[in-house]
Amino acid sequence: MKVAFVSSEIYPFAKTGGLADVSYSLPKAISQHGIKVISMMPLYKTVDREKFGIQETDIEIEVNLPKKTYTFKIYKLKNNVKYYFFYNKELFDRDYLYGPPEGDYPDNYLRFGAFSYAVIEFFKKTGFYPDIVHTNDWQTALIPVLIKDKYKLDIKTIHTIHNIAYQGVFESFVIDELDLGWHLFNMDALEFYGKVNFLKGAIVFSDAITTVSPTYAREICTPEYGFGLDGVLRAHCHKLYGILNGIDYDIWNPETDPYIYENYNETTIEKKDINKKKFLEEYGLSDETKPLFIFIGRFAKQKGIDIIQQSILEMASMNANFAILGSGDKVYNDFFNSIRNKYPNIFIKVGYDEPLSRKMYASADFLLMPSIYEPCGLNQMIAMRYGTLVVARKTGGLADTVIDIDLPAGYGILFENPTKTEFLRAINRAKELYRDKKRFYRLREFVMTLDFSWESSASKYIRLYEELKFGFPKGV
Ligand code: ADP
Ligand code: GLC
Repeated sequence: MKVAFVSSEIYPFAKTGGLADVSYSLPKAISQHGIKVISMMPLYKTVDREKFGIQETDIEIEVNLPKKTYTFKIYKLKNNVKYYFFYNKELFDRDYLYGPPEGDYPDNYLRFGAFSYAVIEFFKKTGFYPDIVHTNDWQTALIPVLIKDKYKLDIKTIHTIHNIAYQGVFESFVIDELDLGWHLFNMDALEFYGKVNFLKGAIVFSDAITTVSPTYAREICTPEYGFGLDGVLRAHCHKLYGILNGIDYDIWNPETDPYIYENYNETTIEKKDINKKKFLEEYGLSDETKPLFIFIGRFAKQKGIDIIQQSILEMASMNANFAILGSGDKVYNDFFNSIRNKYPNIFIKVGYDEPLSRKMYASADFLLMPSIYEPCGLNQMIAMRYGTLVVARKTGGLADTVIDIDLPAGYGILFENPTKTEFLRAINRAKELYRDKKRFYRLREFVMTLDFSWESSASKYIRLYEELKFGFPKGV
């Protein structure tokens, strides 16, 4: 079985969020089962070619679009045929993956549209025809459309929705510019309220659609969470599967993490307290007897960042420390920058900083995730792997990975509605739990033993690939 995995970001080369982590760790887990997977992504300016040993090959791909021909040079890693990088200077030699904080690049349809063509032209040019093409999110959503409708290739396609809020919606002129054919501009294909919707195309044309948790699979079929595509998904629900993401246990491991102050595992968890003490010292916070709450994530509405913003005064007056790391929409960046250093118990860093995030996971008592919606969420799994308890809104993958302490065998704190009142009540429940030291210590040790590795989910994907290729009976 040969699989081509196509994504707009892959860790460690380029990352804006969990999509990159999954695009690294899922193919890795699948290939450990003897399946040949090659991964493909655009070669952005921000990818450090030297550091990763990314080298030019002699493969050159031409994408002939009506207005212009785009040439992609193919790069690969030294001594490694698992990754292929597609380079076109005009389209990808830019400072950001998708656009600056002010907004997306206006020609993203062209950037990712041309890349989608280039992937298929790569199969033609190299003769590497995979059995399955696995695409991800709107950026690669045209690939199944092109494979089925334009190239009519005998390749099965599976598309994973990591976040249905981002659909790739553009004006109808892209039909001409990307030479898609006006027959696709109808309600049963790409047309979406007079515009062109890339993600809708993938939902309609893929042989299977997956999303990243069972709860989110149900949620996106409802108007509340479907962002206008719930009806299309309901019409295609026979091929929709919710498969929970995992995290890479080699990358996220407090026993070997080179960035944290002291390594530890569940049997030496007391060293977590040393991490906390050193973290507080380094980042200007004080009093290790207080609980330390952290937030790490994109500053976007999805993550409940408004709720944190609205609660900041209450947090500032609490007998607790907070550390907030993130970046994203300009309004939030500006707000958090403006209150940096204002409250002695709140440390804030606006930016993307993986080493700091690791120190935070290792040092914290609680991770906050007040998400409005959360397709899967990796932070909560990483946090638990580092013995940090989770305080989260009960939605999507958070509902699938955290059980509230009021339930039998519970080990986290969940709240139902994304409101300031419920969020603050949840923090107070966490503080109460923190005071009950015996229970708190038992739970933080327990969460370290939970299994959030890719093992069981990778088997579900493999079963789905086999089902698509050989027509096995259903039941993922
Ligand atoms: P999403 O993909 O919606 O942003 P996920 O929970 O799936 O959320 O994945 C987020 C990933 O990005 C995690 O690995 C998290 O640690 C990381 N991350 C998010 N923001 C930052 C940041 N500012 N600095 C470092 N790592 C971050
Ligand atoms: C998206 C989602 C996040 C998920 C990630 C990886 O960015 O917002 O919940 O964990 O994709 O699938």
